Amino acid sequence: MVEEVIVAETAATGSGRGRGLPTRAPQKLSQISADSTARLALPLSEFARVLGGGVVPSSLVLLGGDPGIGKSTLLLQVAVLMAEQHGTVLYISGEESVHQIKMRAERMGLTSDNLLLVTETSLDTMLAHIDQTNPVMVIVDSIQTTYTESLNSAAGSVSQVRECASRLQEVAKGQGVTVFLVGHVTKEGSIAGPRVLEHIVDTVLYLQGDPFHRYRLLRSVKNRFGATSEVGVFEMVDKGLEEVTNPSEMFLMERQVNVPGSAIAVTMEGTRPLLVEIQALATTTTFANPRRTANGVDYNRLLLLTAVLTKRVRQKLFDKDIFVNVIGGLQIDEPAADLATAVALASSASDRPVHADMAFVGEIGLSGELRAVSQIEARLREAAKLGFKRCLIPLSRSKKKLDIPTGLEIIECRSLADALEAALLKG
Ligand code: TYD
Ligand code: MG
Repeated sequence: MVEEVIVAETAATGSGRGRGLPTRAPQKLSQISADSTARLALPLSEFARVLGGGVVPSSLVLLGGDPGIGKSTLLLQVAVLMAEQHGTVLYISGEESVHQIKMRAERMGLTSDNLLLVTETSLDTMLAHIDQTNPVMVIVDSIQTTYTESLNSAAGSVSQVRECASRLQEVAKGQGVTVFLVGHVTKEGSIAGPRVLEHIVDTVLYLQGDPFHRYRLLRSVKNRFGATSEVGVFEMVDKGLEEVTNPSEMFLMERQVNVPGSAIAVTMEGTRPLLVEIQALATTTTFANPRRTANGVDYNRLLLLTAVLTKRVRQKLFDKDIFVNVIGGLQIDEPAADLATAVALASSASDRPVHADMAFVGEIGLSGELRAVSQIEARLREAAKLGFKRCLIPLSRSKKKLDIPTGLEIIECRSLADALEAALLKG
């Protein structure tokens, strides 16, 4: 239960919209110019791509993520780049002192004369700062520490978060500044967190990653100015977040070949193909109920694949503990990674390594059949680019001929049983 205090509408809280004469007349679609959404270039291409190709002026963007994942670090980098290219940027922090931020910037080797820092939690003072400094971009870190005196509930409560965000949205639209909000996602899924803001803001980005790994993925889950499927890959180093422009290479760097229980999946993250290593370990259990542990793949999907392997391929797994892990701390939710997971699992259970030059794409159905996946050609190109010689894919039933990259051999299989026959070295 969350307390929401009802406040009588005053001049400060009520906008009084909806009454009186309209201030803007409806316009013809054909006569409205679209230039107002020309984007500001940002020389951080992974970030710009997720935003849809650059920063949109007058937009309100929410960056959500677990505490400590790197939100402040990322936005400080963005702030410096924007300040260097486009003019004054105002960074308002309610969590850290300006000295702390300065220390971080120094450690990251960042500086700019156009970046202004201030520690502030009161929304009304923030708005005064924005009026005075007239920036092109404002960063509010974080929305949970921001409060307005016109409501008497605590900072971080649903009503405060919502009211502050909508006031900042008005500022963004009214004064033509881009506003970035930081929002913490709490363990409980957060009632007063980014979720309640998703409909207010123009763009919602989430920074994700396993805190024990260096990789961070920036995803957009809502974007009024671009596609939502884009993903940016970063690596946390001692100088902040570094762009990873060749993520597949990165994720395959420590791979060992000719060891049972490892297979390469070609997945899609947004419009970009990504090769990841999926590892599986099947060991004889000492429990009455064998254990199944999924790290980076969906647990229920793993149970399904285990059942299909048992029933359709006669792979004995009922007496085995099963562990599946995706290298690099990635979370792969795409069914196209099914085949690689099943191959890794069968490889470990039968102690037969997978051909080292082979990559896998395919969804597995309940009768053990391989099902077609989308964007197969982009996947094949990426596999070829990373030096794979063979790619195992579902048998195509479409008439359209696949455009196969040179040097890559395609093995089309109808079922998981056929795929395993082709994938595993003879024991
Ligand atoms: P931070 O941006 O403060 O996280 P958030 O704002 O999302 O809470 O990042 C904190 C973590 O990032 C901290 O654990 C240390 C790490 N880090 C680096 O590894 N290298 C760096 O250069 C910086 C600035 C932080
Ligand atoms: Mg922070």
